[in-house]
Amino acid sequence: AAGGDTELKTVDFSYEGPFGTFDRAAAQRGFQVFREVCSSCHSAKYLAFRTLEGIGYSEEMAKAIAAEYQITDGPDEFGDMFQRPGKLSDYVPAPFPNENAARASNGGAYPPDLSVIVKAREGGGAYIYSLLTGYEEAPAGEELRPGQYWNAYMAGHKIAMPQPIFDDQVEYADGTPATVDQMARDVTVFLAWLAEPSMEHRKSMGLSFMLFMAVFVVLLYLTNKRVWRPVK
Ligand code: HEM
Repeated sequence: AAGGDTELKTVDFSYEGPFGTFDRAAAQRGFQVFREVCSSCHSAKYLAFRTLEGIGYSEEMAKAIAAEYQITDGPDEFGDMFQRPGKLSDYVPAPFPNENAARASNGGAYPPDLSVIVKAREGGGAYIYSLLTGYEEAPAGEELRPGQYWNAYMAGHKIAMPQPIFDDQVEYADGTPATVDQMARDVTVFLAWLAEPSMEHRKSMGLSFMLFMAVFVVLLYLTNKRVWRPVK
């Protein structure tokens, strides 16, 4: 198992396997969860608004989403920083200015950047899903310090992140019931996409290459036979 010693839950994610693709609707719901829940503590510094088109938003929608954020820009001609609405070329702003500030607000623990977390943790999406749904009462005899929680899947089980998702915590734009299970799946799909937005391209390139090689091998074989026929 990944972090802890507990076997990860099995989830069927459509993006897995050699032909797997991202479920756009799930990824959009996951982005909503990230935005309304996770991003109050976690940054995603590689998430540019323009890339949101990769999970099926139109350019207009991506622009509208960007404009809902306030971005710190500057300095202006007077040397001052200022706030302006986000543009497609901006990145989702981090909740804290730096790691120290993030730790200060989280009892000393650092909420890691979520941009590539699905790649960074052994177990990938199954680990993220298991972690989000893995909060339990601490077993008898285990001491938790204030700000520590028990998670079946975290390495060492003691985690400084309080359970982040609860039933009906978000109201999905597409009307899907927001159960803990649903939100954990959706945000995992979103984070898997964020960790490798070009996954589908990589897979289709790989498949084209395999196909090409299959044809090429047959041609080589036939050519080889023809070239050596006079010698045999
Ligand atoms: C750690 C995901 C919401 C605070 C983590 C980790 C992940 C994660 C994958 C890394 C665990 C590991 O090291 O293996 C998420 C997701 C969220 C979310 C997907 C939204 C659904 C939050 C919120 C807070 C928070 C709202 C703050 C209240 C933290 C902290 C850690 C952490 C402090 C470090 C824990 C430790 O090292 O003990 N989170 N998180 N997270 N998260 Fe979150």
